[in-house]
Amino acid sequence: PVNLFGELRKNSMGINFSNDNELKATAEAVNAKCGPWNAEPLVPGAKGNGPTVQVTNPADRRQVVGSYVSADAALVDKALANAVAAQPDWDRLPAASRAAILEHAAEQLEARRAEFIALCVREAGKSLPDAIAEIREAADFLRYYATMARRLFGQPEQLPGPTGESNQLFLNGRGVFVCISPWNFPLAIFLGQVSAALAAGNSVIAKPAEQTSLIGYAAVKLLHEAGVPEAVLQYLPGDGAVVGAALTKDPRVAGVAFTGSTETAWAINRALAARNAPIAALIAETGGQNAMIADSSALPEQIVKDVIASAFQSAGQRCSAARVLFVQEDIADKVVGMLAGAMAELKVGDPGQLTTDVGPVIDEDAKQILVDHAARMDKEAKKIAEAKLDADVAAHGTFFAPRAYEIPALATLTREVFGPVLHVLRWKGSELKQVVEQINATGYGLTLGVHSRIDDTVEYIRSHARVGNCYVNRNQIGAVVGVQPFGGESLSGTGPKAGGPHYLLRFAGERTLTINT
Ligand code: NAD
Ligand code: ALA
Repeated sequence: PVNLFGELRKNSMGINFSNDNELKATAEAVNAKCGPWNAEPLVPGAKGNGPTVQVTNPADRRQVVGSYVSADAALVDKALANAVAAQPDWDRLPAASRAAILEHAAEQLEARRAEFIALCVREAGKSLPDAIAEIREAADFLRYYATMARRLFGQPEQLPGPTGESNQLFLNGRGVFVCISPWNFPLAIFLGQVSAALAAGNSVIAKPAEQTSLIGYAAVKLLHEAGVPEAVLQYLPGDGAVVGAALTKDPRVAGVAFTGSTETAWAINRALAARNAPIAALIAETGGQNAMIADSSALPEQIVKDVIASAFQSAGQRCSAARVLFVQEDIADKVVGMLAGAMAELKVGDPGQLTTDVGPVIDEDAKQILVDHAARMDKEAKKIAEAKLDADVAAHGTFFAPRAYEIPALATLTREVFGPVLHVLRWKGSELKQVVEQINATGYGLTLGVHSRIDDTVEYIRSHARVGNCYVNRNQIGAVVGVQPFGGESLSGTGPKAGGPHYLLRFAGERTLTINT
Protein backbone atom coordinates (compact mmCIF):
# COMPACT_ATOMS: atom_id res chain seq x y z
CA PRO A 1 0.00 0.00 0.00
CA VAL A 2 1.12 3.53 -0.74
CA ASN A 3 1.81 5.61 2.37
CA LEU A 4 0.18 8.90 1.49
CA PHE A 5 1.05 10.76 4.66
CA GLY A 6 4.62 9.92 5.47
CA GLU A 7 6.49 12.01 2.89
CA LEU A 8 9.32 14.11 4.30
CA ARG A 9 8.87 17.34 2.42
CA LYS A 10 9.77 20.96 3.02
CA ASN A 11 7.37 23.84 2.44
CA SER A 12 8.57 26.90 0.52
CA MET A 13 10.51 29.54 2.46
CA GLY A 14 9.03 33.00 2.87
CA ILE A 15 10.78 36.22 3.77
CA ASN A 16 12.26 36.85 7.18
CA PHE A 17 10.33 39.87 8.41
CA SER A 18 12.74 40.45 11.27
CA ASN A 19 15.65 40.89 8.85
CA ASP A 20 15.53 44.55 7.74
CA ASN A 21 17.87 44.00 4.79
CA GLU A 22 15.82 41.14 3.39
CA LEU A 23 12.64 43.12 3.86
CA LYS A 24 14.01 46.28 2.27
CA ALA A 25 15.42 44.38 -0.71
CA THR A 26 12.08 42.67 -1.27
CA ALA A 27 10.10 45.91 -1.01
CA GLU A 28 12.50 47.64 -3.44
CA ALA A 29 12.38 44.76 -5.92
CA VAL A 30 8.59 44.69 -5.76
CA ASN A 31 8.18 48.45 -6.10
CA ALA A 32 10.52 48.49 -9.10
CA LYS A 33 8.01 46.35 -10.99
CA CYS A 34 4.90 48.24 -11.87
CA GLY A 35 3.89 46.87 -15.27
CA PRO A 36 2.09 47.39 -17.48
CA TRP A 37 1.34 43.68 -17.73
CA ASN A 38 -0.66 42.57 -20.75
CA ALA A 39 -2.34 39.25 -21.48
CA GLU A 40 -4.18 37.45 -24.24
CA PRO A 41 -5.64 33.97 -24.60
CA LEU A 42 -3.02 31.26 -25.06
CA VAL A 43 -4.50 28.85 -27.61
CA PRO A 44 -2.14 27.39 -30.24
CA GLY A 45 -3.37 28.13 -33.75
CA ALA A 46 -5.84 30.88 -32.85
CA LYS A 47 -6.07 34.43 -31.55
CA GLY A 48 -8.57 36.05 -29.20
CA ASN A 49 -11.15 38.39 -30.70
CA GLY A 50 -13.06 39.18 -27.53
CA PRO A 51 -13.14 42.58 -25.86
CA THR A 52 -9.98 44.10 -24.36
CA VAL A 53 -10.37 44.80 -20.66
CA GLN A 54 -8.32 47.42 -18.84
CA VAL A 55 -7.03 46.40 -15.40
CA THR A 56 -6.62 49.03 -12.68
CA ASN A 57 -5.14 48.88 -9.19
CA PRO A 58 -7.80 48.28 -6.47
CA ALA A 59 -5.85 50.55 -4.12
CA ASP A 60 -5.80 53.41 -6.63
CA ARG A 61 -8.08 53.16 -9.65
CA ARG A 62 -6.13 55.87 -11.45
CA GLN A 63 -3.22 53.43 -11.89
CA VAL A 64 -3.51 51.22 -14.95
CA VAL A 65 -1.91 47.84 -14.22
CA GLY A 66 -2.36 46.44 -17.74
CA SER A 67 -4.99 44.90 -19.96
CA TYR A 68 -6.12 41.54 -21.29
CA VAL A 69 -7.92 40.31 -24.37
CA SER A 70 -10.94 38.13 -23.52
CA ALA A 71 -11.67 34.82 -25.16
CA ASP A 72 -14.75 34.39 -27.35
CA ALA A 73 -16.88 31.39 -28.34
CA ALA A 74 -14.74 30.44 -31.38
CA LEU A 75 -11.66 30.33 -29.21
CA VAL A 76 -13.36 28.10 -26.64
CA ASP A 77 -14.07 25.61 -29.41
CA LYS A 78 -10.48 25.68 -30.73
CA ALA A 79 -9.02 25.34 -27.24
CA LEU A 80 -11.17 22.27 -26.56
CA ALA A 81 -10.12 20.67 -29.85
CA ASN A 82 -6.43 21.29 -29.01
CA ALA A 83 -6.87 19.92 -25.49
CA VAL A 84 -8.54 16.71 -26.68
CA ALA A 85 -5.76 16.09 -29.23
CA ALA A 86 -2.89 16.84 -26.82
CA GLN A 87 -4.05 14.91 -23.76
CA PRO A 88 -3.12 11.28 -24.60
CA ASP A 89 0.59 11.99 -25.16
CA TRP A 90 0.78 14.01 -21.96
CA ASP A 91 -0.97 11.21 -20.06
CA ARG A 92 1.47 8.62 -21.42
CA LEU A 93 4.52 10.58 -20.23
CA PRO A 94 6.02 9.00 -17.10
CA ALA A 95 4.54 10.66 -14.02
CA ALA A 96 8.08 11.51 -12.93
CA SER A 97 8.55 13.62 -16.08
CA ARG A 98 5.36 15.59 -15.42
CA ALA A 99 6.43 15.99 -11.79
CA ALA A 100 9.87 17.29 -12.77
CA ILE A 101 8.28 20.02 -14.90
CA LEU A 102 6.10 21.15 -11.99
CA GLU A 103 9.10 21.19 -9.65
CA HIS A 104 11.08 23.24 -12.16
CA ALA A 105 8.16 25.71 -12.30
CA ALA A 106 8.23 25.99 -8.48
CA GLU A 107 11.93 26.89 -8.60
CA GLN A 108 11.33 29.48 -11.32
CA LEU A 109 8.43 30.96 -9.39
CA GLU A 110 10.64 31.45 -6.35
CA ALA A 111 13.44 32.87 -8.48
CA ARG A 112 11.01 35.42 -9.98
CA ARG A 113 9.21 36.01 -6.72
CA ALA A 114 9.45 39.83 -6.80
CA GLU A 115 7.56 40.07 -10.09
CA PHE A 116 4.78 37.77 -8.89
CA ILE A 117 4.50 39.60 -5.56
CA ALA A 118 4.24 42.90 -7.43
CA LEU A 119 1.48 41.51 -9.64
CA CYS A 120 -0.47 40.22 -6.63
CA VAL A 121 -0.19 43.60 -4.89
CA ARG A 122 -1.13 45.67 -7.94
CA GLU A 123 -3.78 43.54 -9.63
CA ALA A 124 -5.36 41.80 -6.60
CA GLY A 125 -4.71 44.47 -3.94
CA LYS A 126 -2.88 41.90 -1.76
CA SER A 127 -0.88 43.22 1.17
CA LEU A 128 2.86 42.46 0.98
CA PRO A 129 2.72 39.68 3.62
CA ASP A 130 -0.31 38.14 1.90
CA ALA A 131 1.38 38.35 -1.50
CA ILE A 132 4.55 36.72 -0.14
CA ALA A 133 2.42 33.95 1.39
CA GLU A 134 0.62 33.54 -1.93
CA ILE A 135 3.88 32.81 -3.77
CA ARG A 136 4.92 30.33 -1.08
CA GLU A 137 1.58 28.51 -1.22
CA ALA A 138 1.68 28.34 -5.01
CA ALA A 139 5.21 26.84 -4.92
CA ASP A 140 4.04 24.39 -2.26
CA PHE A 141 1.15 23.22 -4.43
CA LEU A 142 3.46 22.66 -7.41
CA ARG A 143 5.89 20.56 -5.33
CA TYR A 144 3.24 18.72 -3.33
CA TYR A 145 1.30 17.52 -6.36
CA ALA A 146 4.56 16.61 -8.11
CA THR A 147 5.47 14.43 -5.12
CA MET A 148 2.03 12.86 -5.03
CA ALA A 149 2.06 12.20 -8.79
CA ARG A 150 5.33 10.28 -8.49
CA ARG A 151 3.91 8.16 -5.68
CA LEU A 152 0.45 7.50 -7.03
CA PHE A 153 1.00 7.45 -10.79
CA GLY A 154 4.63 6.31 -10.91
CA GLN A 155 3.89 2.62 -11.21
CA PRO A 156 0.76 0.46 -11.09
CA GLU A 157 -0.32 -0.97 -7.79
CA GLN A 158 0.06 -4.76 -7.69
CA LEU A 159 -3.12 -6.42 -6.43
CA PRO A 160 -3.56 -9.92 -5.03
CA GLY A 161 -4.89 -12.77 -7.20
CA PRO A 162 -4.79 -16.53 -7.58
CA THR A 163 -1.69 -18.32 -8.81
CA GLY A 164 -1.24 -17.79 -12.51
CA GLU A 165 -2.95 -14.40 -12.55
CA SER A 166 -1.46 -10.92 -12.29
CA ASN A 167 -3.66 -7.96 -11.30
CA GLN A 168 -2.60 -4.36 -11.51
CA LEU A 169 -4.32 -1.03 -10.87
CA PHE A 170 -3.23 1.89 -13.07
CA LEU A 171 -4.12 5.56 -12.59
CA ASN A 172 -4.51 7.78 -15.63
CA GLY A 173 -5.69 11.27 -16.58
CA ARG A 174 -9.42 11.63 -17.23
CA GLY A 175 -9.08 13.80 -20.33
CA VAL A 176 -9.69 17.56 -20.59
CA PHE A 177 -9.97 19.36 -17.25
CA VAL A 178 -11.34 22.91 -17.00
CA CYS A 179 -9.93 24.85 -14.05
CA ILE A 180 -11.99 27.85 -12.93
CA SER A 181 -10.55 29.93 -10.13
CA PRO A 182 -11.44 32.92 -7.92
CA TRP A 183 -9.63 36.24 -7.56
CA ASN A 184 -8.89 35.99 -3.85
CA PHE A 185 -6.05 33.46 -4.26
CA PRO A 186 -5.22 34.37 -7.85
CA LEU A 187 -1.91 32.52 -7.98
CA ALA A 188 -2.07 29.83 -5.27
CA ILE A 189 -5.53 28.43 -6.07
CA PHE A 190 -5.04 28.98 -9.80
CA LEU A 191 -1.75 27.05 -9.85
CA GLY A 192 -3.00 24.52 -7.30
CA GLN A 193 -5.91 23.44 -9.51
CA VAL A 194 -3.88 23.53 -12.71
CA SER A 195 -0.85 21.66 -11.35
CA ALA A 196 -3.01 18.91 -9.83
CA ALA A 197 -4.86 18.37 -13.09
CA LEU A 198 -1.60 18.32 -15.06
CA ALA A 199 0.18 16.05 -12.58
CA ALA A 200 -2.59 13.47 -13.00
CA GLY A 201 -2.19 13.43 -16.80
CA ASN A 202 -5.00 15.72 -17.94
CA SER A 203 -4.81 18.52 -20.45
CA VAL A 204 -6.04 21.76 -18.93
CA ILE A 205 -7.96 24.84 -19.94
CA ALA A 206 -7.45 27.49 -17.26
CA LYS A 207 -10.10 30.21 -16.80
CA PRO A 208 -8.91 32.78 -14.27
CA ALA A 209 -11.24 35.14 -12.43
CA GLU A 210 -11.97 38.27 -14.46
CA GLN A 211 -10.39 40.45 -11.75
CA THR A 212 -7.03 38.64 -11.78
CA SER A 213 -6.46 37.57 -15.37
CA LEU A 214 -2.94 39.03 -15.55
CA ILE A 215 -1.70 36.88 -12.67
CA GLY A 216 -3.23 33.80 -14.36
CA TYR A 217 -1.44 34.66 -17.60
CA ALA A 218 1.95 34.97 -15.84
CA ALA A 219 1.34 31.63 -14.11
CA VAL A 220 0.54 29.84 -17.39
CA LYS A 221 3.60 31.35 -19.09
CA LEU A 222 5.71 30.11 -16.17
CA LEU A 223 4.45 26.54 -16.68
CA HIS A 224 5.01 26.73 -20.44
CA GLU A 225 8.57 27.91 -19.88
CA ALA A 226 9.07 25.06 -17.40
CA GLY A 227 8.10 22.54 -20.09
CA VAL A 228 4.32 22.05 -20.20
CA PRO A 229 3.35 21.92 -23.92
CA GLU A 230 1.19 24.85 -25.03
CA ALA A 231 -1.69 22.66 -26.21
CA VAL A 232 -1.65 20.76 -22.89
CA LEU A 233 -2.19 23.93 -20.88
CA GLN A 234 -4.24 26.71 -22.48
CA TYR A 235 -5.33 30.00 -20.97
CA LEU A 236 -8.80 31.45 -21.62
CA PRO A 237 -9.51 34.68 -19.75
CA GLY A 238 -12.95 36.23 -19.87
CA ASP A 239 -16.35 36.62 -18.33
CA GLY A 240 -17.42 33.60 -16.26
CA ALA A 241 -20.97 33.71 -17.58
CA VAL A 242 -19.61 33.62 -21.18
CA VAL A 243 -16.29 31.72 -21.27
CA GLY A 244 -16.83 29.64 -18.11
CA ALA A 245 -20.36 28.73 -19.14
CA ALA A 246 -19.30 27.81 -22.72
CA LEU A 247 -16.60 25.50 -21.37
CA THR A 248 -18.72 23.71 -18.78
CA LYS A 249 -21.55 22.92 -21.17
CA ASP A 250 -19.24 21.29 -23.71
CA PRO A 251 -19.36 17.48 -23.93
CA ARG A 252 -15.58 17.26 -24.47
CA VAL A 253 -14.90 18.28 -20.88
CA ALA A 254 -14.09 15.33 -18.58
CA GLY A 255 -13.76 17.26 -15.35
CA VAL A 256 -14.00 20.68 -13.74
CA ALA A 257 -11.99 21.98 -10.80
CA PHE A 258 -13.85 25.02 -9.53
CA THR A 259 -13.23 27.33 -6.60
CA GLY A 260 -15.56 30.26 -6.04
CA SER A 261 -19.03 31.01 -4.77
CA THR A 262 -21.61 28.35 -3.96
CA GLU A 263 -24.00 29.95 -6.48
CA THR A 264 -21.53 29.54 -9.35
CA ALA A 265 -20.84 25.94 -8.28
CA TRP A 266 -24.57 25.23 -8.62
CA ALA A 267 -24.59 26.76 -12.11
CA ILE A 268 -21.61 24.64 -13.17
CA ASN A 269 -23.13 21.49 -11.69
CA ARG A 270 -26.34 22.13 -13.66
CA ALA A 271 -24.40 22.79 -16.88
CA LEU A 272 -22.41 19.56 -16.56
CA ALA A 273 -25.50 17.54 -15.73
CA ALA A 274 -27.43 18.90 -18.72
CA ARG A 275 -24.88 17.60 -21.25
CA ASN A 276 -25.55 14.51 -23.24
CA ALA A 277 -22.01 13.37 -22.53
CA PRO A 278 -19.84 11.21 -20.30
CA ILE A 279 -20.42 12.08 -16.65
CA ALA A 280 -17.83 14.64 -15.62
CA ALA A 281 -15.91 14.86 -12.36
CA LEU A 282 -16.64 18.06 -10.44
CA ILE A 283 -14.48 19.39 -7.64
CA ALA A 284 -16.18 22.49 -6.23
CA GLU A 285 -14.64 24.41 -3.32
CA THR A 286 -17.00 27.17 -2.31
CA GLY A 287 -18.02 29.70 0.34
CA GLY A 288 -18.51 29.58 4.09
CA GLN A 289 -20.27 31.17 7.04
CA ASN A 290 -17.38 30.50 9.39
CA ALA A 291 -17.66 30.82 13.15
CA MET A 292 -15.27 31.00 16.06
CA ILE A 293 -16.47 29.71 19.44
CA ALA A 294 -14.74 31.15 22.52
CA ASP A 295 -15.49 30.05 26.06
CA SER A 296 -14.51 31.67 29.34
CA SER A 297 -11.55 29.33 29.92
CA ALA A 298 -9.73 31.02 27.03
CA LEU A 299 -7.43 34.01 27.31
CA PRO A 300 -9.26 37.16 26.04
CA GLU A 301 -6.02 38.62 24.62
CA GLN A 302 -5.48 35.53 22.51
CA ILE A 303 -9.10 35.42 21.36
CA VAL A 304 -8.89 39.03 20.20
CA LYS A 305 -5.53 38.59 18.46
CA ASP A 306 -6.80 35.52 16.60
CA VAL A 307 -10.20 36.96 15.74
CA ILE A 308 -8.58 40.11 14.32
CA ALA A 309 -6.35 38.01 12.06
CA SER A 310 -9.16 35.60 11.12
CA ALA A 311 -11.75 38.27 10.33
CA PHE A 312 -9.72 41.13 8.89
CA GLN A 313 -6.48 39.83 7.35
CA SER A 314 -6.73 39.98 3.53
CA ALA A 315 -9.58 42.48 4.11
CA GLY A 316 -11.71 39.49 5.14
CA GLN A 317 -11.58 38.21 1.57
CA ARG A 318 -10.72 34.63 2.47
CA CYS A 319 -13.17 31.78 2.25
CA SER A 320 -11.69 30.65 5.58
CA ALA A 321 -12.25 34.01 7.34
CA ALA A 322 -14.18 34.20 10.62
CA ARG A 323 -17.56 35.88 10.09
CA VAL A 324 -19.18 35.13 13.46
CA LEU A 325 -17.66 35.12 16.93
CA PHE A 326 -19.65 33.21 19.56
CA VAL A 327 -18.25 34.48 22.85
CA GLN A 328 -19.33 33.10 26.23
CA GLU A 329 -21.21 35.80 28.11
CA ASP A 330 -18.96 35.81 31.24
CA ILE A 331 -16.07 37.24 29.19
CA ALA A 332 -18.10 38.91 26.42
CA ASP A 333 -17.90 42.50 27.70
CA LYS A 334 -14.15 42.21 28.15
CA VAL A 335 -13.59 40.63 24.73
CA VAL A 336 -15.86 43.10 22.95
CA GLY A 337 -14.10 46.05 24.62
CA MET A 338 -10.67 44.71 23.67
CA LEU A 339 -11.85 43.97 20.15
CA ALA A 340 -12.95 47.60 19.71
CA GLY A 341 -9.56 48.73 21.02
CA ALA A 342 -7.66 46.47 18.64
CA MET A 343 -9.78 47.56 15.67
CA ALA A 344 -8.96 51.19 16.41
CA GLU A 345 -5.29 50.29 15.79
CA LEU A 346 -5.86 48.69 12.36
CA LYS A 347 -4.23 50.61 9.54
CA VAL A 348 -6.27 50.52 6.36
CA GLY A 349 -4.38 51.63 3.27
CA ASP A 350 -1.82 50.99 0.54
CA PRO A 351 -1.19 47.22 0.39
CA GLY A 352 2.35 47.86 -0.87
CA GLN A 353 3.36 49.39 2.50
CA LEU A 354 4.57 47.05 5.24
CA THR A 355 2.74 49.11 7.87
CA THR A 356 -0.67 48.37 6.28
CA ASP A 357 -2.91 45.84 8.01
CA VAL A 358 -5.91 45.93 5.69
CA GLY A 359 -5.78 46.65 1.96
CA PRO A 360 -8.61 47.33 -0.49
CA VAL A 361 -11.46 45.02 -1.43
CA ILE A 362 -11.28 43.69 -4.95
CA ASP A 363 -13.69 45.95 -6.84
CA GLU A 364 -16.66 48.33 -6.75
CA ASP A 365 -19.21 45.50 -6.82
CA ALA A 366 -17.62 43.83 -3.81
CA LYS A 367 -17.51 47.15 -1.97
CA GLN A 368 -21.15 47.92 -2.75
CA ILE A 369 -22.28 44.57 -1.33
CA LEU A 370 -20.41 45.38 1.88
CA VAL A 371 -21.79 48.92 2.03
CA ASP A 372 -25.34 47.54 1.65
CA HIS A 373 -24.70 44.90 4.31
CA ALA A 374 -23.32 47.51 6.73
CA ALA A 375 -26.39 49.72 6.14
CA ARG A 376 -28.60 46.77 7.10
CA MET A 377 -26.47 45.94 10.14
CA ASP A 378 -26.55 49.59 11.25
CA LYS A 379 -30.35 49.17 11.53
CA GLU A 380 -30.64 45.57 12.76
CA ALA A 381 -27.52 45.13 14.94
CA LYS A 382 -25.39 47.04 17.44
CA LYS A 383 -22.12 48.39 16.10
CA ILE A 384 -19.09 47.47 18.23
CA ALA A 385 -16.44 49.25 16.19
CA GLU A 386 -15.48 50.58 12.79
CA ALA A 387 -11.81 50.94 11.88
CA LYS A 388 -10.50 54.29 10.72
CA LEU A 389 -10.36 54.92 6.98
CA ASP A 390 -8.58 58.13 5.93
CA ALA A 391 -10.36 60.19 3.29
CA ASP A 392 -7.26 60.37 1.07
CA VAL A 393 -6.98 56.55 1.12
CA ALA A 394 -10.67 56.07 0.40
CA ALA A 395 -10.72 58.66 -2.39
CA HIS A 396 -9.18 56.59 -5.18
CA GLY A 397 -9.38 52.94 -4.19
CA THR A 398 -12.10 50.41 -3.35
CA PHE A 399 -11.58 50.40 0.42
CA PHE A 400 -14.01 49.30 3.10
CA ALA A 401 -13.20 49.89 6.77
CA PRO A 402 -13.41 46.76 8.97
CA ARG A 403 -16.50 46.68 11.17
CA ALA A 404 -17.82 44.53 14.01
CA TYR A 405 -21.46 44.20 15.07
CA GLU A 406 -23.32 42.39 17.82
CA ILE A 407 -26.18 40.67 16.07
CA PRO A 408 -29.43 39.41 17.61
CA ALA A 409 -29.26 35.92 16.05
CA LEU A 410 -27.22 33.96 13.53
CA ALA A 411 -30.27 33.90 11.27
CA THR A 412 -29.65 37.65 10.68
CA LEU A 413 -26.98 36.48 8.23
CA THR A 414 -28.55 34.88 5.22
CA ARG A 415 -25.45 34.53 3.03
CA GLU A 416 -21.67 34.75 3.11
CA VAL A 417 -20.44 38.32 3.69
CA PHE A 418 -17.16 38.38 1.77
CA GLY A 419 -15.19 41.16 3.42
CA PRO A 420 -13.95 42.62 6.70
CA VAL A 421 -17.17 42.41 8.75
CA LEU A 422 -17.30 40.46 12.01
CA HIS A 423 -20.56 39.52 13.73
CA VAL A 424 -20.64 38.75 17.44
CA LEU A 425 -23.09 36.63 19.43
CA ARG A 426 -23.07 35.91 23.17
CA TRP A 427 -23.78 32.44 24.55
CA LYS A 428 -24.30 30.96 28.01
CA GLY A 429 -22.00 28.17 29.25
CA SER A 430 -24.88 25.69 29.17
CA GLU A 431 -25.63 26.34 25.49
CA LEU A 432 -22.67 24.72 23.69
CA LYS A 433 -24.91 22.15 22.04
CA GLN A 434 -27.23 24.86 20.64
CA VAL A 435 -24.27 26.92 19.40
CA VAL A 436 -22.90 23.99 17.42
CA GLU A 437 -26.39 23.17 16.11
CA GLN A 438 -26.81 26.76 14.88
CA ILE A 439 -23.47 26.63 13.09
CA ASN A 440 -24.36 23.32 11.46
CA ALA A 441 -27.76 24.72 10.49
CA THR A 442 -26.17 27.39 8.27
CA GLY A 443 -25.56 24.54 5.81
CA TYR A 444 -21.98 25.69 5.23
CA GLY A 445 -19.05 23.72 6.62
CA LEU A 446 -15.69 25.29 5.87
CA THR A 447 -13.65 26.52 8.87
CA LEU A 448 -14.33 26.74 12.60
CA GLY A 449 -12.18 28.40 15.25
CA VAL A 450 -12.31 27.26 18.87
CA HIS A 451 -10.85 29.01 21.89
CA SER A 452 -11.08 26.84 24.97
CA ARG A 453 -8.78 25.18 27.47
CA ILE A 454 -11.39 22.55 28.34
CA ASP A 455 -10.64 19.26 26.59
CA ASP A 456 -14.25 18.02 26.77
CA THR A 457 -15.49 21.20 25.09
CA VAL A 458 -12.95 20.91 22.30
CA GLU A 459 -13.79 17.23 21.82
CA TYR A 460 -17.54 17.94 21.80
CA ILE A 461 -17.10 20.58 19.09
CA ARG A 462 -14.73 18.42 17.06
CA SER A 463 -17.11 15.51 17.03
CA HIS A 464 -20.34 17.46 16.41
CA ALA A 465 -19.42 20.39 14.13
CA ARG A 466 -19.72 19.58 10.44
CA VAL A 467 -16.76 21.59 9.13
CA GLY A 468 -13.77 20.78 6.98
CA ASN A 469 -11.06 22.63 8.94
CA CYS A 470 -11.24 23.14 12.70
CA TYR A 471 -8.55 25.21 14.45
CA VAL A 472 -8.15 25.28 18.24
CA ASN A 473 -6.53 28.14 20.20
CA ARG A 474 -5.13 29.86 17.12
CA ASN A 475 -6.44 31.77 14.12
CA GLN A 476 -8.47 29.92 11.51
CA ILE A 477 -6.84 31.08 8.26
CA GLY A 478 -3.79 30.23 6.22
CA ALA A 479 -3.95 26.46 5.83
CA VAL A 480 -0.51 25.10 4.86
CA VAL A 481 -0.18 22.70 1.92
CA GLY A 482 0.45 19.13 3.06
CA VAL A 483 0.03 20.18 6.70
CA GLN A 484 -3.59 21.35 6.93
CA PRO A 485 -5.31 19.93 3.82
CA PHE A 486 -8.00 22.49 3.07
CA GLY A 487 -11.64 22.28 2.03
CA GLY A 488 -15.18 22.19 3.32
CA GLU A 489 -18.33 20.10 3.18
CA SER A 490 -22.03 20.63 2.47
CA LEU A 491 -22.57 24.09 0.89
CA SER A 492 -18.83 24.76 1.25
CA GLY A 493 -17.60 22.14 -1.15
CA THR A 494 -17.36 18.65 -2.52
CA GLY A 495 -13.82 17.82 -1.38
CA PRO A 496 -11.28 16.32 -1.74
CA LYS A 497 -9.09 18.70 0.21
CA ALA A 498 -6.61 20.89 -1.66
CA GLY A 499 -3.06 20.26 -0.51
CA GLY A 500 -4.08 16.87 0.87
CA PRO A 501 -3.13 13.31 -0.02
CA HIS A 502 -6.42 12.43 -1.74
CA TYR A 503 -6.75 15.47 -4.02
CA LEU A 504 -5.02 14.05 -7.10
CA LEU A 505 -7.18 10.94 -7.08
CA ARG A 506 -10.26 12.97 -8.07
CA PHE A 507 -8.44 14.10 -11.21
CA ALA A 508 -7.68 10.50 -12.17
CA GLY A 509 -9.36 7.57 -13.81
CA GLU A 510 -8.54 4.02 -12.66
CA ARG A 511 -7.93 1.00 -14.88
CA THR A 512 -7.16 -2.56 -13.89
CA LEU A 513 -5.19 -5.04 -15.96
CA THR A 514 -5.61 -8.76 -15.37
CA ILE A 515 -3.21 -11.15 -17.11
CA ASN A 516 -3.50 -14.89 -17.11
CA THR A 517 0.22 -15.65 -16.84
P1 NAD B 1 -17.30 33.54 -8.33
O1 NAD B 1 -18.12 32.32 -8.11
O2 NAD B 1 -18.01 34.80 -8.64
O3 NAD B 1 -16.26 33.32 -9.52
C1 NAD B 1 -15.35 32.25 -9.50
C2 NAD B 1 -14.99 31.87 -10.92
O4 NAD B 1 -16.14 31.35 -11.58
C3 NAD B 1 -14.51 33.04 -11.77
O5 NAD B 1 -13.43 32.63 -12.57
C4 NAD B 1 -15.72 33.36 -12.62
O6 NAD B 1 -15.40 33.97 -13.83
C5 NAD B 1 -16.28 31.97 -12.85
N1 NAD B 1 -17.70 31.92 -13.23
C6 NAD B 1 -18.68 32.79 -12.93
N2 NAD B 1 -19.86 32.39 -13.46
C7 NAD B 1 -19.62 31.23 -14.10
C8 NAD B 1 -20.43 30.31 -14.83
N3 NAD B 1 -21.74 30.50 -15.00
N4 NAD B 1 -19.85 29.20 -15.35
C9 NAD B 1 -18.53 28.96 -15.16
N5 NAD B 1 -17.71 29.80 -14.48
C10 NAD B 1 -18.24 30.92 -13.96
O7 NAD B 1 -16.38 33.69 -7.01
P2 NAD B 1 -15.33 34.84 -6.68
O8 NAD B 1 -16.06 36.07 -6.34
O9 NAD B 1 -14.29 34.90 -7.74
O10 NAD B 1 -14.62 34.25 -5.38
C11 NAD B 1 -15.08 34.44 -4.09
C12 NAD B 1 -15.81 33.19 -3.63
O11 NAD B 1 -14.90 32.08 -3.66
C13 NAD B 1 -16.27 33.26 -2.18
O12 NAD B 1 -17.55 32.70 -2.08
C14 NAD B 1 -15.25 32.40 -1.43
O13 NAD B 1 -15.73 31.88 -0.22
C15 NAD B 1 -14.96 31.35 -2.44
N6 NAD B 1 -13.67 30.68 -2.21
C16 NAD B 1 -13.67 29.40 -1.75
C17 NAD B 1 -12.46 28.76 -1.47
C18 NAD B 1 -12.43 27.36 -0.95
O14 NAD B 1 -11.37 26.72 -1.00
N7 NAD B 1 -13.53 26.82 -0.43
C19 NAD B 1 -11.26 29.43 -1.69
C20 NAD B 1 -11.30 30.75 -2.19
C21 NAD B 1 -12.53 31.35 -2.45
N1 ALA C 1 -6.34 28.19 2.10
C1 ALA C 1 -6.79 29.48 2.46
C2 ALA C 1 -6.82 29.68 3.95
O1 ALA C 1 -6.72 28.70 4.65
C3 ALA C 1 -8.12 29.74 1.87
O2 ALA C 1 -6.98 30.77 4.41
